[in-house]
Amino acid sequence: MQILELEPRGDNSDAYAEAARVIGAGGLVAFPTETVYGLGANVFDEHAVRRIFAAKGRPPDDPLIVHVRPRWDLTRIADDVPPLAERLMKELWPGPLTVVMPRAASLPAIVTSGLPDVAIRAPHHWVAEALLDACGTPLAAPSANRFSYVSATTAQHVVDDLGDSVDLVLDGGPSSAGIESTVVKLEGNDLVVLRHGALSVDEIVSAVPEIADVRAAALDADAAASPGRMLKHYSPATPTMALGAGDDPSRYELPDRVCVLSYTGRFADDLPAGWSLEVLGDRSELDQVARDLYAKLRSCDRSGHDLLVVELTGSAGIGAALDDRIRRAASGAVLG
Ligand code: TXA
Ligand code: MG
Repeated sequence: MQILELEPRGDNSDAYAEAARVIGAGGLVAFPTETVYGLGANVFDEHAVRRIFAAKGRPPDDPLIVHVRPRWDLTRIADDVPPLAERLMKELWPGPLTVVMPRAASLPAIVTSGLPDVAIRAPHHWVAEALLDACGTPLAAPSANRFSYVSATTAQHVVDDLGDSVDLVLDGGPSSAGIESTVVKLEGNDLVVLRHGALSVDEIVSAVPEIADVRAAALDADAAASPGRMLKHYSPATPTMALGAGDDPSRYELPDRVCVLSYTGRFADDLPAGWSLEVLGDRSELDQVARDLYAKLRSCDRSGHDLLVVELTGSAGIGAALDDRIRRAASGAVLG
């Protein structure tokens, strides 16, 4: 595996040329986006796309997101694009919004796990954008982590998880949003939220006021019925439980070595002996909490505790996305 460090204001053209060569040869390139790192392959190269599933240990029934530049012609990927999807793409791309729409026949079925719909997004990150330009082809790219583990927000996370199953890692520093894109589909003039994410529903609706109604897809343990929305996802190896916002974990019977992940000003002195506290940040600055959450989950996961207890934000907006990830990290288990 090769790692290339990129300079935000430098000339990185050699690195992008190398990445385009690897993609052209059917290889896998991990790259930063504004949400998390992605593991990319040429979307029209079935063999390369199959390698993504193998590298992640991802089941074949969990479809991939296709990454494009905002104004690219989507006709080889999508078909019968709903007018409201056009509006979302126009107003909110590039950005952390993935839009699910009918797929084109020319798109290899493996990308969508055989589903009639394809998920597409245009990332807003200097590396992802330059990489797409250099490759000149859409890239299928799930998050660059082992299946069901915490997503990667740094190049080191990718190396830790995937090692030599990746050909090239482009290191563009930590991802700025820190949690994945919001995934939506359209039913008539209604917006159906398949996954809460870095772009809040309020931001979507205020950008596209034609949206008539917003519906959330339920948290669902049945992976076959709703791909990629399994209850266990984004999960540390250490057993993990969610804690209701404002609740006190010491009133539950828990193992000896517990790591509590909570917010500034909570539990400073009053946790049981032997427990430790990891501060996720200030509750009034949830954007910052999102940026650091996965790195903190990963480091607590390696700290030799019996249990991780992660407090929910109890907030709307980005808080809804954070609470979704915390619940899934805990496979749906909430204390109490
Ligand atoms: O921010 C992100 O979305 C990151 C970066 C790398 O772009 N990507 C990411 O990909 O999180 P992944 O594969 O880890 O999550 C993709 C989500 C899954 O929940 C998957 O089931 C859903 O999108 N998805 C993909 N294609 C779909 C489809 N055709 N219909 C419904 N859901 C789909
Ligand atoms: Mg993922």
